[in-house]
Amino acid sequence: MSDPTEISEEAVSAAVTAALTAISSAADSAALRVVRTEHAGDASPLARLNALMRTVPNDRKAAAGKLVGQARGQVSQALTAREAEIGAAEAQAQLAAETVDVTAAASAWRPGARHPLSLLQERVADVFVGMGWEVAEGPELESEWFNFDALNFDEDHPARAMQDTFFVDPPEAHLVLRTHTSPVQMRALLSRELPVYVVSPGRVFRTDELDATHTPVFHQIEGIAVDKGLTMAHLRGTLDHFVKAMFGPEAKVRLRPNYFPFTEPSAELDLWHPTFKEGARWIEWGGCGMVNANVLRSAGIDPEVYSGFAFGVGVERALMFRNDVKDMHDMVEGDVRFSQQYGMTV
Ligand code: DAH
Repeated sequence: MSDPTEISEEAVSAAVTAALTAISSAADSAALRVVRTEHAGDASPLARLNALMRTVPNDRKAAAGKLVGQARGQVSQALTAREAEIGAAEAQAQLAAETVDVTAAASAWRPGARHPLSLLQERVADVFVGMGWEVAEGPELESEWFNFDALNFDEDHPARAMQDTFFVDPPEAHLVLRTHTSPVQMRALLSRELPVYVVSPGRVFRTDELDATHTPVFHQIEGIAVDKGLTMAHLRGTLDHFVKAMFGPEAKVRLRPNYFPFTEPSAELDLWHPTFKEGARWIEWGGCGMVNANVLRSAGIDPEVYSGFAFGVGVERALMFRNDVKDMHDMVEGDVRFSQQYGMTV
């Protein structure tokens, strides 16, 4: 709009008309703010007309002042009214957008559950921590050396054969999925000062088919103690306390001679299970023995000064006979309803 040079009724009413049109067509509060600046701000036509009051002769000042004043009042009122209108509409729209249907059905949320195998491993670890032992973990992808050689397995020991062990490509890397938790024995010895008292729960792998009593991925708990003067009596005493803590005061262990390359003498570890569902009985649970002198030597330990004992037991097996789980499938399928039966304790 070109600058008005004098306050005329035409100029004032043109400014008012333009302002009212703009106000009524402003669709939202942002647009209305722009309209307010353009038509009621310091640089608006009406403000510029008002500035001309200086030039109006005294005898016409009152009339001109009234004309411009009323015009500005009219625009200001229209702005206020439109602002209220838009404000109400916007509040309404926001409420509609934020509507919560309190009658809608809640989405079903089922809490998960910890797996009984995890709980059982933690329970075992607790028993040993209570005796002052450390808990350690080893890698599941293990070097053949830790899994076999360091444990005194012969080059042609049948356990190395393809049908038991998952070898990992490339062959020259000499990596396997560990077939037992025993490699943690050597890792524990190499990474600690003596004496060593370490228990190690973890996952192990063998090329078995999944059926009611086998699974290619399962869990073991390994223990190793190396100190001055340890004997088979310490092994027995430790295992006895362990099984009583796990299976009740009447539980006890029986050792039957056996062979493992990494222990000498070696024994089969049987457990007297007093609360077995089908009646108290001896159950084969794992292996144990005195750490073979060759294993101690591989770890740089003098077998003339130090001796040690070790043991390894199966976790799935323990869950089977301790909690009467008949089918391995239940343990590996991951159905939360299976885990939920145990709550937070096994
Ligand atoms: N690693 C053996 C296995 O998987 C179990 C075992 C036997 C562990 C004797 C030991 C042990 O620590 O001394 O069959």
